Amino acid sequence: MSKLILISNRLPTTAQKINGFLTYQKSIGGLATGLKNYHAQTDSIWVGWPGIADEEITPAEKKAIQNELQNTYQCRPVFLTEKEIDRYYNGFCNETIWPLFHYFAGKTKYDIETWEAYRQVNEKFFKTVATVIGENDIIWVHDYQLMLLPKMIKEQFPDTQVGFFLHIPFPSSEIFRLLIWREEILRGLLGADLIGFHTFEYTRHFLSSTRHLLGLENTMNRISYEDRYVQADAFPMGIDYQFFTQKHEDNSFQEEAREIIEKTKDMKIILSVDRLDYTKGIPERLKAFGRFLTHYPEYREKVRFNLIVAPSRVEVDIYDDLRKEITELVSSINGNFGTFTWMPVWFFFRSFSQESLIALYRHSDVLLVTPLRDGMNLVCKEYIAARTDYEGMVVISETAGAASELGEAVIVNANDYNAIASGLKTALDMPREEKIARNKMMHRRLRRYNVDFWASEFLHALQRTVSESKQTIMQRSIEKDSHLIENAYQNANKRVLFLDYDGTLVGFCPQPDQARPDEELIQLLEVLVNDPRNTVVIISGRERYDLEEWFQNLNLYIIASHGLWLRYPGQEWIMTTSLDNDWKDPIRHIMELYTDRIPGSLIEEKDYSLAWHYRQSDPDMIAVKLSEVRETLRSIIQSETLGLQEGNKVLEVKDNRVNKGFGAAAFTQNQDYDFIFAVGDDYTDEDLFSSLPQDAYTVKIGLGNTNAAYFLKSWQSMRLLLKKFADISNHLKKE
Ligand code: UDP
Ligand code: G6P
Repeated sequence: MSKLILISNRLPTTAQKINGFLTYQKSIGGLATGLKNYHAQTDSIWVGWPGIADEEITPAEKKAIQNELQNTYQCRPVFLTEKEIDRYYNGFCNETIWPLFHYFAGKTKYDIETWEAYRQVNEKFFKTVATVIGENDIIWVHDYQLMLLPKMIKEQFPDTQVGFFLHIPFPSSEIFRLLIWREEILRGLLGADLIGFHTFEYTRHFLSSTRHLLGLENTMNRISYEDRYVQADAFPMGIDYQFFTQKHEDNSFQEEAREIIEKTKDMKIILSVDRLDYTKGIPERLKAFGRFLTHYPEYREKVRFNLIVAPSRVEVDIYDDLRKEITELVSSINGNFGTFTWMPVWFFFRSFSQESLIALYRHSDVLLVTPLRDGMNLVCKEYIAARTDYEGMVVISETAGAASELGEAVIVNANDYNAIASGLKTALDMPREEKIARNKMMHRRLRRYNVDFWASEFLHALQRTVSESKQTIMQRSIEKDSHLIENAYQNANKRVLFLDYDGTLVGFCPQPDQARPDEELIQLLEVLVNDPRNTVVIISGRERYDLEEWFQNLNLYIIASHGLWLRYPGQEWIMTTSLDNDWKDPIRHIMELYTDRIPGSLIEEKDYSLAWHYRQSDPDMIAVKLSEVRETLRSIIQSETLGLQEGNKVLEVKDNRVNKGFGAAAFTQNQDYDFIFAVGDDYTDEDLFSSLPQDAYTVKIGLGNTNAAYFLKSWQSMRLLLKKFADISNHLKKE
């Protein structure tokens, strides 16, 4: 039976030691509050940090926490030391990722030590997760603290379904690229089969970052990555609608909440509820409230602003500074506007239970939520749901993810104090019927898109992505059948191996001449060519000069320029067909025009072809221009012997009479090989695959339509296969 494993940094239950005794509290923050009821109703396990440092507890207490969390809350704790909390949680999570992803680039710290801690703690989480993963389990990793975890899980448990959901914004690629460890983070996330975000904007930003930074294209938000698909999509998180609309017993909420309600009965109440965070725009909101009292003095002594700020991350300096700033602003507003009988702002720096919040929501006329940036903001959804009389009104800033779903609320710019002040007035003065009509529409949406809907939509999409991936790819993944190929290699007496070079034996480099063979590759090839049963052929689109320089000391065959040139070990080059190159001038002219206009692109001239490379160009510019370049080239290709082919970030116009299939034929014709192996990564290798007999082992590196019988996920995986071949050859030699 498969199970669902939820993983997040913070567990829904936090352990605390108060006066020497262990206590357990409900955690606050949207991730924990939003998912906790879903977790309680499903048969899931939740792995996360219980919120206490190792140094605060004895081994016996640790055990007690473990038992309590496991037995009462179906949670598995990952314990962290003070040092880890300081570097990973306070440091990399909350001083690097959190500010950067919320567009506070100026507050972002870059520190190699905290990055290292982030990596190590992600590994620590992996170790705990690995102990609970069973066959066919579904793993759902949450939020920015664990962005390296999906990759770790996928590598060790390739058959599990791995989902990732980011609860905070994914910033524009211009901001994301400021991160020093941006590629590691993207590759960590790409370990997931499905990556979810709250909004389409965040999804778009993520896809644009993978495109710009990793060169990965997507079709309908789907990326072909190694040997599988990765889907990215928007899943706006909902709330537990039923919990917020139902009646809660009076004794379920705190005495303090009751008092607040009692003492403010005759006032119009403005409420705001946030964790302490500079992203929430609390100082700005207070200033805007001051502006409101100045612009609309008729409200003085008639409104009260209940400002609830739940303590959060207070060990991070800027959070503590923020608390001081808020306290000063509250005093200043109360000092400026207050009277003997009226204090405009009531400030509560503590957290309330959700039952208390519901009671407060129901007694507040307006909820004022004005984050400068917020992934979603669940508080505003909770408020709307809790007001089952439909008579409240939300004033929300457009920079909260929730704003895109709550079009009927009063929407303002969080930096515009005048707009917030007049938005407040609009909400307070809104006729009852209008409020009811607007709230009813929002209720309908919140009821339907509740947290259960959100989770089940996400999990269905995850299942769909994985099964589509499996259907199209996994059946032919060489990983599964590698023993068949290795056995065939071992048992064969006369083998031929056709090896493409770029993207197959080595990775891509920004400039083609940087992709030289490394020592390891040379040694592997040496073993293979020295096996008397082998004929090893490097078959490449490259010019012959590079290949000759790199491989002349090895006893191998080289086919260069896609089959135009052929070289037997130690001999001179032979031209396989004679060509006329008069066609090149007009094509070169067009390519030059585009090379001048599109920075980063370059022309490569080969004997029989002209290739226009755009690996280094801005992907957005390429997205706009590529079809134009393609069409212009097509329109001037006059001759039937010429063709336009599209490779990995390259358009190539070439003489059709040259291709790798014809090149390989020189080797396979009239020969009785009992093992034919061919591997390549792009369209030019397709001619080779289709020219070989049915029983040949043909392998494509990466995904895509292919005539090859198998897929391998990367050139690194190809190296592993070559190593296995080399081991067999070495072994046979000894026998
Ligand atoms: N919350 C709470 N008690 C408090 C303050 C907040 O239980 O005193 C809960 C609130 O009900 C909401 C969550 O914390 O569910 C805050 O989520 P939101 O998405 O608004 O912001 P986040 O904290 O995730 O940035
Ligand atoms: C946001 C984050 C969550 C986090 C919560 C509370 O909602 O998206 O991942 O748990 O804030 O923050 P904390 O640092 O206390 O866990």
